[in-house]
Amino acid sequence: MKIAPSVLACDFARLGQEAADIQTAGADWLHLDVMDGHLVPNISFGPPVIAALRPQASVPFDAHLMISRPHLYVGPVVKAGADIVTFHVESQSPVEETIALIRDEGAIPGLVISPDTPASALFPYLELVELTLVMTVYPGFGGQAFMPQMLPKINELRERVTRLGLDLDIQVDGGVSQENIALCARAGANVFVAGSAVFGQGDRAAAVRELRQLAESKL
Ligand code: DX5
Ligand code: ZN
Repeated sequence: MKIAPSVLACDFARLGQEAADIQTAGADWLHLDVMDGHLVPNISFGPPVIAALRPQASVPFDAHLMISRPHLYVGPVVKAGADIVTFHVESQSPVEETIALIRDEGAIPGLVISPDTPASALFPYLELVELTLVMTVYPGFGGQAFMPQMLPKINELRERVTRLGLDLDIQVDGGVSQENIALCARAGANVFVAGSAVFGQGDRAAAVRELRQLAESKL
């Protein structure tokens, strides 16, 4: 069980300190939401900001590319310091080529589905990636309400992955909190992105610890 806080919910004026602080708080990965204002209706940050953050924390950098043509940015994102790169199956990039590109650059590839996309859209690629991400909000903004109707997709995906005998991380992103993380874990997720539920708390170490405990106990 891994907790991946999303810096989208942190204080951007103190980005470097926030990254260092969340690592100290026990984060397993740092989730970096890259948005282009085209695939999603918001713009966040790109490779230069990731590069600036890289010296601030040693945990794996998990870059979530919410951009229309991710294959054009895989190189710059990995060179900036991303260890894991996930992109949307709904993007305009050729899926298999983009996965291969991520590997060629030396990073770990993952594929994402938005709420309107069925789990089956990931099935042709399960043997090619190491991570799949099921969005539990419409991507673009932090602080939105978790969509419980996405849970069956996590179940479906975990069943499929188990049946194929694959060792694949299933990540969940969007509105994940102390209230629903156990439900996600029970459905089969094992990597949990959390923005508001971590950065919004006074005691972030306690928030990370509690999220991990709830995910592990599945209660
Ligand atoms: C949404 C992003 C998420 C977001 C999560 O488009 O992909 O990673 O930052 O934030 P919370 O946990 O606040 O929903
Ligand atoms: Zn994200």
